[in-house]
Amino acid sequence: MDAIRRLIKAMPKAELHLHIEGTLEPEMMMQLAVRNGIKLPYADVEAIRRAFAFGSLQDFLDVYYAGMSVLVTSRDFFDLAFAYLTRMHAENVRHVEIFFDPQGHTSRGISFDTVLSGLVDALERAKRDYGITSKLIMCFLRHLPEDDAFVTLKQACRCKEHIFAVGLDSSEKAHPPSKFSRVFREARENGFVTVAHAGEEGPPSYVCEALDDLEVKRVDHGNRALEDASLVQRLVRDEIPMTVCPLSNQRLQVCPDLTQHPLRRMLKAGMRVTVNSDDPSYFGGYLTDNFLAIQSALSLDRSEIVTLGRNAFLSSFMDDADKQAALDAFNAFVAGFGDS
Ligand code: HPA
Ligand code: ZN
Repeated sequence: MDAIRRLIKAMPKAELHLHIEGTLEPEMMMQLAVRNGIKLPYADVEAIRRAFAFGSLQDFLDVYYAGMSVLVTSRDFFDLAFAYLTRMHAENVRHVEIFFDPQGHTSRGISFDTVLSGLVDALERAKRDYGITSKLIMCFLRHLPEDDAFVTLKQACRCKEHIFAVGLDSSEKAHPPSKFSRVFREARENGFVTVAHAGEEGPPSYVCEALDDLEVKRVDHGNRALEDASLVQRLVRDEIPMTVCPLSNQRLQVCPDLTQHPLRRMLKAGMRVTVNSDDPSYFGGYLTDNFLAIQSALSLDRSEIVTLGRNAFLSSFMDDADKQAALDAFNAFVAGFGDS
């Protein structure tokens, strides 16, 4: 194996854009369907895999929300999250910031507390067993009305000690960030940091709205920001992290040919780019696979990979002392990693 692939595998990593419901592997989907007596529209694991062929974000979301129906008890959420964290441990991932979609569950009669308690237990266990640190980011589903988001925010306000930030996901087109300006203002007033998906399928103006109206500290995806030179300047000047997801972009036809992926242009423009997996079960690869795929497609060199790896720690929501310790460990690892 060449040195750069060994470096990608061995380096300490952080993941900042990961939907926990998007880690539901077909095997677990079948198992949980049996455990909970849920009828799935798929005969077997192979049929589930065949459904993972997407022409757009909406195609994917339809399958993603259907898959969630097997998640019922706290134990299900624990098992889901702990399986992901166990994989991340094996991939030398040290820190994760995980999205969850409570409205995808409360709309089916699953309580907010059921979801959160399973996730929190898994994160605490991963800290104990693997030393993986984490933050939870609660996303609002942008295709639903503002009122629903307010109800969800109220639930989060009762559990502030477990939820660090709020985000915005689901169908982007026709659901601009400004639709949630008031919800995000109330979230900030309650002490939540904010992030949002923007510029994945939506126009650069949605990235501007995320910054101006939602006061986001990171942009999730943000690929299309490149279409607006003044926006790029602003993102560079303000060192706004972008959580880019190469295999997701490929599978959702945002960028079907990875050799044409904007990541290098984003890096060259001076943007603070990170690599992430988004929904790894559905898009065919976890964090390391995303690094390997984009390295190979764009022939990224060692210094570009190191920049991407370091950016993830720099862009994380760890407190200053933890961040410095993680960066020191990352830098020491890279300094000690020979090319042979
Ligand atoms: N975009 C929007 N919503 C999502 C995604 C995504 O990539 N993954 C899960 N929900
Ligand atoms: Zn996402």
